[in-house]
Amino acid sequence: MRHTAAMLEIRDLSLAVSIQGRPVEAVSSVSLQLRPGRVLGLVGESGCGKSLTAQAVLRLGEYQGVARTQGDILLDGESIFAMSDETLRRMRGGRVAMVFQEPMTALNPVFTIGSQLGEVIRLHLGLSRRAAMERAAGLLSGVGLQDAGSLLGQYPDALSGGMRQRVLIAMAMAADPDYIIADEPTTALDVSVQKRIIALLRGLQRDRNLGLMLVTHDFGLVAEMCDDVAVMYAGQIVEAGPVGEIFDRPAHPYTQALMACRPEISRPGEALPVIPGQVPAPGQWPQGCRFAPRCGRAGPDCRAAAIAEYAWRDGAHLARCLHVAEEA
Ligand SMILES: Nc1ncnc2c1ncn2[C@@H]1O[C@H](COP(=O)(O)OP(=O)(O)OP(=O)(O)O)[C@@H](O)[C@H]1O
Ligand SMILES: [Mg+2]
Repeated sequence: MRHTAAMLEIRDLSLAVSIQGRPVEAVSSVSLQLRPGRVLGLVGESGCGKSLTAQAVLRLGEYQGVARTQGDILLDGESIFAMSDETLRRMRGGRVAMVFQEPMTALNPVFTIGSQLGEVIRLHLGLSRRAAMERAAGLLSGVGLQDAGSLLGQYPDALSGGMRQRVLIAMAMAADPDYIIADEPTTALDVSVQKRIIALLRGLQRDRNLGLMLVTHDFGLVAEMCDDVAVMYAGQIVEAGPVGEIFDRPAHPYTQALMACRPEISRPGEALPVIPGQVPAPGQWPQGCRFAPRCGRAGPDCRAAAIAEYAWRDGAHLARCLHVAEEA
């Protein structure tokens, strides 16, 4: 079978992390598709495997002892796990770029903005130093930073958090990638700055027809930006579908509980509702449905055996749950 469609496809991917020297499954059979011009939101509580999944697309986990145990990731039909070191180096940033959560740690404090941005540009585009600096200045203007010329000579700690995140976005755009993986790109920023960074990302995504994978806790952001949503719980996708479907008819009890915890619907002064219990860590997943211990609807059938990803399905909307129909 040939896979020539422009698409970033995670197919049946399982990942193991190393816990006390032993491999332990942390991501289980995840399948996701991202197309140019589309925004896919990946949501779920802390520790569900969102970052592991996102980082796998650039094979970054390998540096932290994360191993692929099953499945594949296909970039426009080509397996990223079959890429040579050189192809992988060009792919990172050149075809798929990443925007991380914490702009300070992602920038090197001892190099100027110009040298860091210039290096990325030269690496991918092979421009002269002078041409790279010109492009760098253009990229900084393109992400809304004024006085780009003088910014190039400054060090990261002279910039505010919002400015640093703009620099990182400029860096991600440096080699005109087709896909951007943004892992909680605004979580570390003030709310007002978050809004502007999101507007910037959305503008770039639309103008350049980027495929954007947005990892976030923020359902408001999902509603505003995403075309498709995948909800992760304990290493699995538990619900996925078009954003309208997920908001209008969340099917999985976990998604419903997450939505009930959205800050928008709590009243001022009221404590935020939380889902009782905790996400089980890798290696401590229960048998059967992994959400069952926290789920008001779970019965013995939920605990008996693993639940299929398509246990409930309506067109492109699917949920890993045995008890959707009775609620709908
Ligand atoms: N390199 C690693 N070695 C060992 N365990 C890891 C490693 N990376 C992640 N884990 C564990 O795997 C689980 C999933 O981690 P991951 O960072 O993907 O979660 P997440 O969904 O991104 O959470 P958050 O919302 O807090 O960022 C967690 O229990 C985490 O402790
Ligand atoms: Mg994370």
